[in-house]
Amino acid sequence: MLTTLIYRSQLNTSCKSIGLEAIIEKAKRRNSELGITGILLFNGVDFLQILEGAEESVIPLFHRIREDKRHQGVVELMRDYGPRRRFDNVGMILFDLRVDTPRSVLERVLRYSKLDSYLTSDDRVFKFIQTYITRPKPQTIKGTLFSSGDWQLEAEQAPFDKSLPLQPNQPCQFAFQPIVEPSEGKITSIEALIRGNDGGSPEQFFKAISSEDIYKIDLETKAWAFSLAEKIGIGDHKIAINLLPMSLVNVPDAVEFLVDQIGKYHLLPEQVVIEVTENEIISGFHQFHSAIKQLRAAGIGLAIDDFGSGYAGLSLLTRFQPDKLKIDREIISNIHLSGPKQAIVKSIVSCCTDLEITLVAEGIEKLEEWYWLESAGIKRFQGFLFARPQLNGVGQIHWPRPAC
Ligand SMILES: Cc1cc2nc3c(=O)[nH]c(=O)nc-3n(C[C@H](O)[C@H](O)[C@H](O)COP(=O)(O)O)c2cc1C
Repeated sequence: MLTTLIYRSQLNTSCKSIGLEAIIEKAKRRNSELGITGILLFNGVDFLQILEGAEESVIPLFHRIREDKRHQGVVELMRDYGPRRRFDNVGMILFDLRVDTPRSVLERVLRYSKLDSYLTSDDRVFKFIQTYITRPKPQTIKGTLFSSGDWQLEAEQAPFDKSLPLQPNQPCQFAFQPIVEPSEGKITSIEALIRGNDGGSPEQFFKAISSEDIYKIDLETKAWAFSLAEKIGIGDHKIAINLLPMSLVNVPDAVEFLVDQIGKYHLLPEQVVIEVTENEIISGFHQFHSAIKQLRAAGIGLAIDDFGSGYAGLSLLTRFQPDKLKIDREIISNIHLSGPKQAIVKSIVSCCTDLEITLVAEGIEKLEEWYWLESAGIKRFQGFLFARPQLNGVGQIHWPRPAC
C-alpha cells in the first residue's frame, strides 16, 4: 500500500561531519531501487523528511534511518496512506534552506509534486513542509535531545514500611505505588491498588463478586486501604484510592462511610484523593455530580484516572474539573518518538495549566518518556521507572539524577 511517512529530527552536533552529500548520493540509489522518494529538508539545525513509497519498503527504511547516529531526537509526525504518489519517483532530493530562500524551496517542492495545486493547498504533507520552511528560525526542539549517558537512576528506600505481612480477616490486600515529583525529589502521594488475597489483579478480584454486591464491596474495601496506610506510616502524605463512581451513588451514605473510615485510621479527608476513570464519570454524570459535591464538601480530593483512554476526552473538563488528572499510559508510552502523542499532551498541559489542575503522567517506564514529559511541563509521575507497586508496603524509589 502506498504510504507517506514524515519525521523530524535534529543534527547530531557531536558528529564531526554529517557528510550530507554522501548520505544523499547513497540514499538516491537505495531509494530508487526501493521505489521510495525521500524529500529531505534541512536548515542547518533540524531535518524534516518525507518518505513516500510502498509500506513494506518505507517502514523498514524509516527504522534504519531512526538508528542513524548522524541525527537525533527522531519524532514521527505522520504515517498515512493514499491512492496516488504526491511526488515523482525520484529517489531522494535535498532542499537546503541554508542555500535557497524559503520561497524558492517551496516552489521547487511544488514542482516535484504530482498533485494538482487545488489538492496540495489542503494536503497535510504540504502543510508540514510549508510550516517547516516558513518557520521564523531553526529551533532546538525542547525535550528531544535526551542522551541516556547524561542520566542515571539512584535508588532510595521510601520512608514507609517496606512490606507488612498479608493482612488477615480482610477480603483483599493492597499494593502501594508512589507518585513522585523528581525535580523536587519528593513523593507527592501513594496510590493504593487493590489486590486479591492471593495477590491477584483488581480485575480478578472484582470478577469473583456478584453484580449486586460490587458497589458495596468496592466502597468497603477502601477502609482496608486506609488501615494499611496508617500501619505503614504514611504520615501526612496523600493516599489515592480507586473507586467506581456508582459506589458513591448506589451505596446509601457512602460519603459518610468514607469520612468515618478516614477518621478511624487517623487520616484527614484532605489527605485522600479518589480516582475515577473518565468513562465511568461520563456514563453516570448526573447522578455522580451530586456525589462529587458531597466529596468536595467533606474535603476529599478528586482525580480523573486514565485520561485520554475513553471517549470523553477534553470535553469532560467543560463539565467537571478535578484536582488532578492522570494521563493514560497508552498516550505516555514512547511519547518521545511520537509527534501526535506530543501534540495531544501539550494541549492537555496547556488546558490544565489554565485550569490549575495538577497533572500526573502514569505508566512511565523509560527515562526518555520522563525527560520529554518533564520538558513539556509535567512534574508528577507514576510508573515502573520510579517505583513498582509493592504488596502491603512501599519499596524503593528510583530518582533520575544527572550522571557526573
Ligand atoms: C537525515 C537522514 C536522512 C536519511 N535518509 C535516507 C534515505 O532516504 N534513504 C536511505 O537509504 N538512507 C537514508 N539515510 C541514511 C540511513 O540512515 C542509513 O545510513 C542507511 O540507510 C544505511 O545504509 P548502510 O547500511 O549501507 O550504511 C538518511 C540519514 C539521515 C541522517
